[in-house]
Amino acid sequence: MNRLQSHPASKIQGEYSAPGDKSISHRLAMLGSLAEGTSQFSHFLYSDDCKQTIEAFKAMGVSFQQKQTAEGDTLVINGVGLKGLSAPKKELDLGNSGTTMRLLLGILAGQLFEAHLTGDASLSRRPMRRVTKPLREMGAIIIGADDANYAPLQIKGGKLKGISWKNEIASAQVKSAILLAGLFAEGDTSVEEFFSSRDHTERLLIIFKAPFKKMNSKLIIRKTEKLSAVQFRVPGDISSAAFFIAAALIVPNSDLIVRQVGLNPTRIGFLEALKLMGADIKIEFKKDQGEPIGDIHVKSSRLKAIKLNQNWIPKLIDELPILMILCALADGTSVIEGAEELRIKETDRIHSMVAGLNAVGGKIEERHDGCVIEGVKGFAGGTISSFGDHRTAMSFLIAGLRSKEGIVAEDTDCIQTSYPGFENDLKRLSER
Ligand code: S3P
Repeated sequence: MNRLQSHPASKIQGEYSAPGDKSISHRLAMLGSLAEGTSQFSHFLYSDDCKQTIEAFKAMGVSFQQKQTAEGDTLVINGVGLKGLSAPKKELDLGNSGTTMRLLLGILAGQLFEAHLTGDASLSRRPMRRVTKPLREMGAIIIGADDANYAPLQIKGGKLKGISWKNEIASAQVKSAILLAGLFAEGDTSVEEFFSSRDHTERLLIIFKAPFKKMNSKLIIRKTEKLSAVQFRVPGDISSAAFFIAAALIVPNSDLIVRQVGLNPTRIGFLEALKLMGADIKIEFKKDQGEPIGDIHVKSSRLKAIKLNQNWIPKLIDELPILMILCALADGTSVIEGAEELRIKETDRIHSMVAGLNAVGGKIEERHDGCVIEGVKGFAGGTISSFGDHRTAMSFLIAGLRSKEGIVAEDTDCIQTSYPGFENDLKRLSER
């Protein structure tokens, strides 16, 4: 098990391009596999999670090549078409990747063959009934513990019929699984959301020329024979950029430019919250391919406390750990509520962040659906556990930049899940 240490920094400076967006990379690997012809995705995220998606589709007969281009890592996929997947010869082990498991269940619901899905200890504890319930209603046969709530899961699909689903949980993974299954179902399949979650699946379905439309708050997909191959540059991941945006805000004398990062309105709650906290951030939108992108200029700032209720949570869910670090250094008392979904991420992130913040000199109180954080002037430092969670590990390594003695994060291999270059970027952008 690896450990990493970050040290007090004198400034964060330079230009920075965040790794490719994880949510978009997963979806591109899946839709590219189902399209007809060769798709090419530059700035693709080769992290552990996205590799799980690639390996799963390789096991179902799709071929992938990795190329180096001027845009960095590029994924080339020879799509097999909507009817071209073949039965995997052994179980599909999806490691730590919840997005792979939930979205793949949607695609497998449309296949006539049987597949077995497993994952690591963390993935096996994450609830799947939110996805298996609607997919069973569409006609898939799914078997697993606690009424198909936990992996390992066995799924046999085919002969699906469309449903109208009201998504009571703000979850893009649930919405996406149903829409992907809808590509294979007789009649219309629709999803209605109470809180809008990230809409990458919808945007990409349009780019791949699927018969998808949005009518008011209803998302509607129809069965189709063909998806078209696509060339696409993956935007930088705002969830990964958030760590260095935060670093530049809390380390004095900092000045950072983040280039070509995703600015999808369903993902920028973090930036909106920072503006309310008084952060010096300037955003410049650039020409995009259907996913908004732009540059962000960040300077060190004195931050004010913030109160976030459940309406905020879907648009900054993955940024809450690093936002908690910022709240811990802001003037006043911050309150986060309505964030119970954080308890069922790669780890219980309310617990992991409260434990870590209290260990390094923060003042935080745990609530069932969030926390109350009292701002301090800086962290003392110390050692924290990541609990095997990438975003917890990275959040505390950033906190160490504004500490007296530095912060050691234990169990940091998990950072490979979403951000393989994190350690290098941390070294390159921070000066001691
Ligand atoms: C994701 C959706 C979110 C997010 C996760 C990625 C996606 O999960 O937390 O990191 O790619 O659709 P939920 O759908 O469970 O909210």
